[in-house]
Amino acid sequence: MEIDFSQIVPSIPFILQGIGITLAFALVSAIIGLVLGSILAIFKISKVSALKWFANIYTSIFRGTPLILQLVIIYFAVPQLFQYDIPKFLAGVIAFGLNSGAYISEIIRAGIQAVDKGQQEAAEALAIPYRPMMKDIILPQAIKNILPALMNEFITLTKESAIVSVIGLMDIMRRAQIVGANTFRYFEPLLIAGFVYWVLVTCLTVLGGFLERRLRRSE
Ligand code: ARG
Repeated sequence: MEIDFSQIVPSIPFILQGIGITLAFALVSAIIGLVLGSILAIFKISKVSALKWFANIYTSIFRGTPLILQLVIIYFAVPQLFQYDIPKFLAGVIAFGLNSGAYISEIIRAGIQAVDKGQQEAAEALAIPYRPMMKDIILPQAIKNILPALMNEFITLTKESAIVSVIGLMDIMRRAQIVGANTFRYFEPLLIAGFVYWVLVTCLTVLGGFLERRLRRSE
């Protein structure tokens, strides 16, 4: 048996229709992750130890267990407990958003703490209050560390989104598997799926590089 794309050509549009779902999925997950991650990062740099403690335990749990496990708990296990049905997309973005929030909180915390301590000391010496110091001095510098890492996280989310195929969301991955099952040809549709992911990630990488260069120019 050899590779023969001609038989799956009619299925290519079916696979490509997954691009919109995959991108929408990654985007919504990233937005949830960004909101959650920002809140957790604030907790982590706060002086209230209960908040710090909460954010650290949260991060430890969501980074310390497989994302696929978190996904099936939210899609299969929790609804079983409370007797409800949850749409696949919603369950997926909740799982990915909760997971990404843990990673993003670390990106933001590290980005803020990487700003030289002298900046805060100088602001304090000039009697600049905490809020304006954060907003006008620390955060603008932190953004330079944070933005490239956030772009990276979005790329990770785009690739990891393939995991959501296990609960049956019709993303690129799931569609390729369906074409394989229907045509008894797996190699070709999976190769196409791989190529599509690669193109998406390459576009995002180029976009990220562009943003990074613009940030550096504004220095
Ligand atoms: N495969 C990893 C896991 O199962 C992916 C974690 C998601 N990573 C991320 N940066 N959001 O845990």
